[in-house]
Amino acid sequence: MSSDATMSIHLPPTCEAALLERFLKAEAMALWTVRSARLQDVPPNVYAFLRKHEEDEQQHLAQFETMIGRRPRERERFPSVPRQWPALAVQLYGYESLGLEFATLLVTLRPDLASIREDELVHVEFFEQEIHRLLRSEAAAAEQARISARAWWRKLPRTVDRYLDAAVLDPCRQTLIKLILAAIEQRFRETGLLGGKEATMMPSVRLAVGEDP
Ligand SMILES: [Fe+2]
Ligand SMILES: [Fe+2]
Repeated sequence: MSSDATMSIHLPPTCEAALLERFLKAEAMALWTVRSARLQDVPPNVYAFLRKHEEDEQQHLAQFETMIGRRPRERERFPSVPRQWPALAVQLYGYESLGLEFATLLVTLRPDLASIREDELVHVEFFEQEIHRLLRSEAAAAEQARISARAWWRKLPRTVDRYLDAAVLDPCRQTLIKLILAAIEQRFRETGLLGGKEATMMPSVRLAVGEDP
């Protein structure tokens, strides 16, 4: 499921530099988010995983810094993350799922970076298990996870659109948005985070999607 469709995309080699630039930012963001998450009150097994997760994201970031030849802009503070574990779990699961889709896209142009995608898959699978655990746990935690998922999902089209904002990506941008959103929607539905009606709640970016280039 999921990133199979993204894998079928064939981007022209001219998109490579723009994708690498985006990864520099996204990996820095992933690293800061994991660092913020480690400061929260999370279950012990999650805390243990986040240490390994942080190492992975640090290594990914270093790889992009080397390839591009510069570092991302420093931040004074880590990005804020939800304090409640069900909401935080959804955020981590969501962004890792998005990271996996982008890594899948990257690998179509740079097969030598396949190990990054493999790491992202491990991250997604870990948080997916945690989401399953939450949805089977007390009703309040499950409900909080579902509410957070709907809120995160509503913001996703704008996030993806912003992420793909590069002139060189314009010709395939709408197709990419469509594929990435569909992959994440499917993932969220299969885990049980999204129920029946959310797709119709998709904001306007989704409505603009549709024509292949
Ligand atoms: Fe990463
Ligand atoms: Fe990751």
